[in-house]
Amino acid sequence: MADGGEPLIPVLSVGLDESFYSKALTGFRKRLRIVECVYDLELLRKPLEEPPLMIFCGQRPASESVIEFATLLRENHPSAFLFFVGQSKLGCDRAGLLAAGFNDVYLLPLDFKTLSHAIAQAIASQNHEGLVFRPVKLIDIGPDTQLDFDTYVFLPLNKKHIKFSAAGDVLEQERADRLRQHDVGSLYVSAGQLERFYEYTASRLQAIQGDATLSLTERTERLERAVRGLVGELFTSDETSEDDAKRIVSDCQNVVRTYITNTQSGNLYEKILTVNDTNSDTYSHAANVSTYAALFALALGVGNVDDIALAGLLHDIGMAHVAHEDLIPHPATALEIIRKRKLVLSDLVEAIIFQHHERFDGQGYPGKLRGIEICIEAQLLALADRIDEMTAPELDQARVTPREAVARLLKETGDDPAHAAFDIAMVEKVWALFQEKN
Ligand SMILES: [Fe+2]
Ligand SMILES: [Fe+2]
Repeated sequence: MADGGEPLIPVLSVGLDESFYSKALTGFRKRLRIVECVYDLELLRKPLEEPPLMIFCGQRPASESVIEFATLLRENHPSAFLFFVGQSKLGCDRAGLLAAGFNDVYLLPLDFKTLSHAIAQAIASQNHEGLVFRPVKLIDIGPDTQLDFDTYVFLPLNKKHIKFSAAGDVLEQERADRLRQHDVGSLYVSAGQLERFYEYTASRLQAIQGDATLSLTERTERLERAVRGLVGELFTSDETSEDDAKRIVSDCQNVVRTYITNTQSGNLYEKILTVNDTNSDTYSHAANVSTYAALFALALGVGNVDDIALAGLLHDIGMAHVAHEDLIPHPATALEIIRKRKLVLSDLVEAIIFQHHERFDGQGYPGKLRGIEICIEAQLLALADRIDEMTAPELDQARVTPREAVARLLKETGDDPAHAAFDIAMVEKVWALFQEKN
């Protein structure tokens, strides 16, 4: 027990020692029970007495990659906060570390303050039962919505999460209205029940999309609202912190994954995930592009959502097999690799992959297709591709937010629509999707 009678918080520390604890963990130390481990896969495979809330990983002595370790730790401790703390940029590939499952990467001593903040947040996210909470946004709550997970609200004064509804409860109209009035972005789900939240969200999207009793306008409006709710402030605010943005993107990815695995493309999607090297940088790019493009397609009511999500995962699979100086063959190379690996895709998925670098003005590659010669799915994918490129985390550069990226593309396209990469009407629709609506 800690001084205040509270149970100690379990922490796993890999490859770090006293010099780190004394500098980075002051103020928290008394509340933590630290289990130390060296970088050794065998040791790390052994189960721990209690699941750690946080895992700190230091740099490996031989500056070798920590990716393998991160993957193992992430698998064994899916809801832990996994932090990388390094001392030099050398051997610290931020994008790769994030893709491997780290929640964040801190370079010391520069990032002591942000690390402290993250530790405080991680501790605050835990309640007396040891649950870890994640803020979520429930989309499309109707009068008789039944949730099969518990929801909580956070009371800032008491610094406590209290239960708002229990799994199996029907959210009555009045409570649902109250939630909506308060624009509750502040509902929480415990980390252990997140999968059920993804399942709920994906099935709501599917239900609206397949609801034959809705008029086209109603359906589009509800899908727009649902996607806007899911994506939250990601595209509407420049103020969103990097951590929040990452959490939203990861939630969106999980919802799209669940959405697709529930359709007939599900098997294929899972197969692609096993074919793709999920540890690489390119994987996180592919997953982001797939997610953005699928959500745009859903919300705008255009294109085949499943196919666009599949194509998104595979679109740059040819990249690793072409020379850096000449990327033009990579869409064709992608299709060759897909055939070699015996993935049977629809003509549309192949077309989307093949056309993802075409430009609306006809100046793209490989086919110099123009305007509506490019399928709408490839147009949406190309837009998502640019957005993710612009927002990719770079160690030394100020971050471009997704909202800023869309704003810049809107300006770039609007300035000279005849010589633009994208259809101005499409960019305007995507921009409009994330503007405040009454
Ligand atoms: Fe590409
Ligand atoms: Fe790409």
